[in-house]
Amino acid sequence: GPKFPQVVVLFGATGDLARRKLLPGLFHLANAGFMPGCRIVGVSLDDLDAEAFRTFAREALDQFSMRRPDPADWAVFAESLDYVPLAGGAEAVRAAVARAEASLEGECRRLHYLSVPPSAALSAVRLLGEAGLVPRSRIVMEKPFGTDLDSARVLNARLHEVFAEEQIFRIDHFLGKEPAQNILAFRFANGLFEPIWNRNFIDHVQIDVPETLGLGKRSGFYESTGAYRDMVVTHLFQILAFMAMEPPTALEPMPIGEEKNKVFRSMLPLDPRHVVRGQYIGYRQEEGVDPESDTETFIALKCGIDNWRWAGVPFFLRTGKRLAEGQRIISIAFREPPKSMFPVGSGVGAQGPDHLTFDLADASKMSLSFYGKRPGPGMRLDKLSLQFAMRDTGLIGEVLEAYERLILDAMRGDHTLFTTAEGIERLWEVSTPLLEAPPPVRFYAPDSWGPKSIHQLVAPNAWRLPF
Ligand code: BG6
Repeated sequence: GPKFPQVVVLFGATGDLARRKLLPGLFHLANAGFMPGCRIVGVSLDDLDAEAFRTFAREALDQFSMRRPDPADWAVFAESLDYVPLAGGAEAVRAAVARAEASLEGECRRLHYLSVPPSAALSAVRLLGEAGLVPRSRIVMEKPFGTDLDSARVLNARLHEVFAEEQIFRIDHFLGKEPAQNILAFRFANGLFEPIWNRNFIDHVQIDVPETLGLGKRSGFYESTGAYRDMVVTHLFQILAFMAMEPPTALEPMPIGEEKNKVFRSMLPLDPRHVVRGQYIGYRQEEGVDPESDTETFIALKCGIDNWRWAGVPFFLRTGKRLAEGQRIISIAFREPPKSMFPVGSGVGAQGPDHLTFDLADASKMSLSFYGKRPGPGMRLDKLSLQFAMRDTGLIGEVLEAYERLILDAMRGDHTLFTTAEGIERLWEVSTPLLEAPPPVRFYAPDSWGPKSIHQLVAPNAWRLPF
């Protein structure tokens, strides 16, 4: 953990993310002794006092904390919570931070967490500047970082007027997931797969993150964001970079960032003809949604990385709300053998190519599917598989939820699992053709796998899900 006591200034303190992840996460970190001391100053548009914020936090923990809060632990945590309505301005935030610091022993550090939509990020940054809260501090910026190339550039430029780059942590919580980091271990700690990790052996890759979840109370945010900005330009592309990058020279922020940025630089600009935008039937009737909304709640697309390793290998990405299943998989389809000696009708190839599949569920899972002989006379082939589940290994460290891990890293000043300004700007650049000429949304039934045209998108291949 960090060496110094921390004052966390949480913007968007009554928002969905704070409720689901940040407050439960901070509670766990504070409790499990990861920090020498911690005070939290919540800030948001809501007109609450500290007591009402504590009630809000308590309800959030009851609903979303992985463990039931122990009364004594809760009492300590509740004490550490304070709240300032945004209307109080810079002076009120400054005063609350000063009070928090006075109550902690020793020199403190500040972590400003901006859990706010892109449109509100700059005013929060300015407020922190005005309040004189820049020294001894780090700032975490939530995704999406900007809404297109121009706004991301402006945001970076304005941010740099107030904070130095070393102070800035652009968060993408998918990189904090254990199984995402396990991709790096799997690829670079083993000699077996890396030699075949390229266009000569890999036919295509799918990154598929269907969600059953709807909007909840987030229609305000979601209407102006949509599935592409909410998930693809952030999480899915970051995962793609872990899959596709060259071995970094060291497991450190600069070398890793550089290899990821090389992937992004090699990405082909998105072609709107290879994008399916969808909207679930009923979305337009939800509270807070425009009855003629063109926001996509689903997106599937084909993209490519035009470098030596990946030229010609399609990457298919899909994600959406209100789909049939919640899954987070990366599936690598290997090329089929050049020639088959097995009789017609033996079953070879009938169930698709061999796959290596990573499951980004909370505890890593992986499987490798291949053809093998079905027992019995003759030669009938079947798709078989090797399965790995971290859960079955008995290896249980102190598992941190993705946000917890990343909050600690930011407090310690470790940028390894954060995204870079250059990488983000490049991803918006790649996105420009799609953002400028989005194809019309197609409707899909809730609990389905998306609009019908998703099959054409991957043809002659097929979606790996549902298994
Ligand atoms: C968030 C998106 O960043 O990620 C949500 O804003 C999405 O819309 C969520 O549901 C998915 O994260 P996880 O960790 O539940 O897979």
